Amino acid sequence: MNIHTKAVHAGDRKEAGPHIPVTTPIHAASSYFYKDAEELDRVFGGDQPGFSYARYGNPSNAALEELTTALEGGHGSLACSSGMAALQMAILTALTDRRKAVLAADALYGATFNLLMTVLAPLGVDVRFVNMCDLDAVARAIEEQKPGCLVMETISNPILRVAEVDKIAILARAAGAALIVDNTFATPLLLRPIELGASIVVHSLTKYLAGHGDVLGGVVISDEPHFATLTALSRVTGPALGPFDCFLAMRGIKTFPLRMERQCENASRVAAALTVNPNVGRVYFPRDHAHPDAAAIARLFPAGLYGAIVTFELKGAGREGVFRFMNALKMVVPATSLGDVHTMTLYPAMSSHREISPKQRARMGIGDNLVRLSVGIEAVEDILADLEQALACPAS
Ligand SMILES: Cc1ncc(COP(=O)(O)O)c(C=O)c1O
Repeated sequence: MNIHTKAVHAGDRKEAGPHIPVTTPIHAASSYFYKDAEELDRVFGGDQPGFSYARYGNPSNAALEELTTALEGGHGSLACSSGMAALQMAILTALTDRRKAVLAADALYGATFNLLMTVLAPLGVDVRFVNMCDLDAVARAIEEQKPGCLVMETISNPILRVAEVDKIAILARAAGAALIVDNTFATPLLLRPIELGASIVVHSLTKYLAGHGDVLGGVVISDEPHFATLTALSRVTGPALGPFDCFLAMRGIKTFPLRMERQCENASRVAAALTVNPNVGRVYFPRDHAHPDAAAIARLFPAGLYGAIVTFELKGAGREGVFRFMNALKMVVPATSLGDVHTMTLYPAMSSHREISPKQRARMGIGDNLVRLSVGIEAVEDILADLEQALACPAS
């Protein structure tokens, strides 16, 4: 079934009873009643399908999880209270019965880097980093470290590198390691990592999938071998997303492929305009023929879809020049997120990568003049007009 169709139908109308809601409602109950203790015992024990306690499952969560499983072509999902909670659950799941060692991409969202370095490494997990776009380096690092899992993003945040996820999956599997892929930036419209051999996919639902800037959530989608562990861990660690947010996320997802197509189209136009703007330095966008991963992008992404993030350097600017640009915007929203219907700009050095040292940021290619733009669904002429007038303000 096409992703547009799955987004609209998957997960709904699963309830029994005389009145079946067309779209799944909010089930706010935290516990469930059965007519006798024997039936409750069977549900608790997993011998009879059903819900007992909301930390273990709830019809609103189950509907959203069925929908995300369908979108990513996985075996099962766990809706979590944030994208970071989802990443944490994915790594715990992968390492439960493997060597406590993570080989991570050297280009990652700042909080993911911090989860690895300030939470997992102090707990004794061996954390190492590699350039995932260099397959020989990945193979050597796997051989040396023997990681329990690999962690990468399909389109890296914020400089938009694209590694060959299918080839990395082969290397990971040969070494008995799980490949965890954060697919937040690419979304299942561009790429479905489990279908390409990854074990686990993670999303910040907060971004493109929910898409309206009104939900904080995450989801872990796993293949069959990891799903029982994921579910068992969730029962004791309790990361579940609340039913109200599940409802909002599901409502948002129904239009996600439509929004994402439009956002990708707008982003291509914005990247092209920024490239010729005299006040803009380097522009990072996966459509660029000179992109270092152009071959991987042409092979892995559908024609015409390159994601909806455009990152660029403000020529001659430092922190103050970037602030001036952001303050001069009239419609584009300076914000700390991405993927919403409205166009947003973010300053990685202040926001997504703030907790990372300036030296480490520089190693990641994140300079003080780097600006990240999440392109929305507005009329592209309005986005371009606002960017152009703000860029015309002197940078220094
Ligand atoms: C690529 C990526 N992964 C994960 C996250 C974390 O998501 P959340 O803020 O929902 O915890 C973010 C947040 O910006 C992100 O950009």
